[in-house]
Parts: sequence; C-alpha cells; structure tokens
Amino acid sequence: MHIRRALLDDIAQLIAIEQSAAQAFLRLPELAWLARAEGLDAKAHKAFIAEHGSWLAEDEQGQALGFVCLRLEGQALHIHELSVRLPSQGQGIGRQLLDQACAVARHQGAQEVTLTTFAQVAWNGPFYARHGFQVLDEQQLGARLQGILASERAHGLNGRCAMRLPLP
Ligand SMILES: CC(C)(COP(=O)(O)OP(=O)(O)OC[C@H]1O[C@@H](n2cnc3c(N)ncnc32)[C@H](O)[C@@H]1OP(=O)(O)O)[C@@H](O)C(=O)NCCC(=O)NCCS
Repeated sequence: MHIRRALLDDIAQLIAIEQSAAQAFLRLPELAWLARAEGLDAKAHKAFIAEHGSWLAEDEQGQALGFVCLRLEGQALHIHELSVRLPSQGQGIGRQLLDQACAVARHQGAQEVTLTTFAQVAWNGPFYARHGFQVLDEQQLGARLQGILASERAHGLNGRCAMRLPLP
C-alpha cells in the first residue's frame, strides 16, 4: 500500500470509495441513511485535486483503497473527507491517511489539523481521539467550525463534533 496525490483520472474511483465506505453506517440503524447519501461530487474532487489536497491510498496492483481530502483554512489544515473502501477498513489505511494529512499540514506550515465527525460512532470520534485529536467545546470552535457544524445540522447530521490536533 502506498499513498500518492490523486489525479483527475482517479475521480470515478474516489466517488466509488466514498460510496463503499459509507456502507459502514448500515450497522447503525439511526445513521443507516448515510449509506445512500451523496458524497463529494466530481466538481468538489476536481477542486481538491487542483489544490493538491487530495491523497489516494492504493495497493500494489494499483487498486484505489481510500482517500483523504484536505484544504488549508487559515492556520488549520481541515480534513473534509476521509474514506476507506468497506472491505479494506480496519487494516490501518485510515490511520496512514491521517498520518499523511498531518505530514501535509506540517509541510504547509499549518498549526493544527481540524475536522468534524460523529462524536459517538466508534470509527469516527474515538478513532480520531486515539490519534491525538481533541473535541472542541462551544467556546473553542470559532466561526469556521461553528459554520460547518451548523451546515451539517441543517443537512440532518446530528451528534457531530469538531476536533483538532495541535501540531508542535
Ligand atoms: C473512518 C475510516 C476512514 C477509518 O479507516 P480505516 O482504514 O478503517 O481505519 P484504521 O483501520 O486505521 O482504524 C480504524 C479504527 O476504528 C476502529 N473501528 C473500526 N470499526 C469499528 C467498529 N465497528 N467498532 C469499534 N471500533 C471500530 C478500529 O478498531 C480502528 O481502531 P484503532 O485506531 O485503535 O486501530 C473508515 O472507517 C471509513 O471510511 N468509514 C466510513 C466513512 C467515515 O466514517 N469517514 C470518516 C468521516 S469523519
């Protein structure tokens, strides 16, 4: 397995990975609808690729297994999406993509990595917490993360939290 920058030719695979990854939510009756939800579209992927913010994990045969989409927002590198194909989950690929995000953040001079996620879903909040991310309380959020959480709530996503990993 190795991680490389995603290219425009990868977009169909990126969309397929996110659809496969979302099947994990079928285990949770209250979030099962996410398995049918639309993920990032081709236009959004194009933008991340153009900004060099899209990174793809692939196996030795060149099969795309997972990806992470990143964008620098002021002092923070924000993880917009992290997805690993359902059959490839639980093998450390997500962790390696997270390490890649941190490496990119350091390279770009960011002071922190941020994201929003489900606080209570085992492979979301607790997974990031084990990687050193801290949940931000209301006072720590700032306008940017408040805005993302409000937009997610408006799209029916409840139980979300914002997390940050300070970079030394
Ligand atoms: C989140 C995601 C990218 C992680 O990728 P991954 O390759 O499975 O990640 P890893 O194998 O590195 O680690 C997964 C961790 O979650 C834990 N985990 C996964 N499924 C779990 C479950 N059902 N119950 C408890 N823990 C679970 C694993 O034990 C592992 O823990 P560890 O960090 O202590 O090793 C992947 O699960 C995914 O694509 N999920 C669906 C989409 C999603 O939720 N994306 C995140 C949006 S914020």
